[in-house]
Amino acid sequence: MMPILELKHIGKIYGKQWVALSDVNISVEEGEFVFLVGPSGAGKSTLLEIILAREKPDTGIVEFAGFSSDKLTDEDIPVMRRKMGVIFQDFKLLPDMTAFDNVAFALRVCGYPRKTTRTRTTELLARVGLSHKAKSYPQELSGGECQRVAIARALVHSPLLLLADEPTGNLDPHSTEEIMKLLLDINRQGTAIIMATHDIEMVERFGFRVVELSDGYVIGDRKGNK
Ligand SMILES: Nc1ncnc2c1ncn2[C@@H]1O[C@H](COP(=O)(O)OP(=O)(O)OP(=O)(O)O)[C@@H](O)[C@H]1O
Ligand SMILES: [Mg+2]
Repeated sequence: MMPILELKHIGKIYGKQWVALSDVNISVEEGEFVFLVGPSGAGKSTLLEIILAREKPDTGIVEFAGFSSDKLTDEDIPVMRRKMGVIFQDFKLLPDMTAFDNVAFALRVCGYPRKTTRTRTTELLARVGLSHKAKSYPQELSGGECQRVAIARALVHSPLLLLADEPTGNLDPHSTEEIMKLLLDINRQGTAIIMATHDIEMVERFGFRVVELSDGYVIGDRKGNK
């Protein structure tokens, strides 16, 4: 197996005193599922932001799919981000757009033709089980349904890696199960997933690799049993 993501000696400092990350070294292989755990403020979201190149590391290098953070040009960033999908606890859907348009928009901004956009969006909404809600607006959808729209949107470019920042943090147990089933299915089809979560019970139940952060340090990296 080839690593698709390598974090080498990643450090991030906010201001002068907040050391958000210190010498983080993590390698993620193709199709791997990694849980990222640790207390509030441990650096989980910061690490995901650095992988997405929304934040620059103060030390170290991120290598992803042939891109290297120290050589990344402004033109590279959107190209690289198309190989990653991202979902958040609060979904981040556009409130004035239907479920369909929230997904389609991600394709339209990349200049895909109308027909391709329509076909791909229809296909993705079916994949997340939401064909019947295509015309609904986010405020007309449950939390679980909103997260499924966000997942469909994250998959528009068939990413190599899906980053999930507490994707079930706002969901009830039933919706959490549905979202996890969907993420497992996506992972089985070859997309690597890094998921930050506070849900330790779930982490134990799934048995995937667990990287534990505390005060910006990796204090544990336990192999999964799958
Ligand atoms: N933009 C910022 N400016 C200043 N400090 C920041 C910024 N973003 C994060 N931090 C600090 O960096 C540290 C890591 O924060 P981060 O959000 O990555 O933690 P987290 O593990 O995601 O926490 P949570 O579980 O609460 O989401 C914290 O001390 C936080 O206050
Ligand atoms: Mg966070």
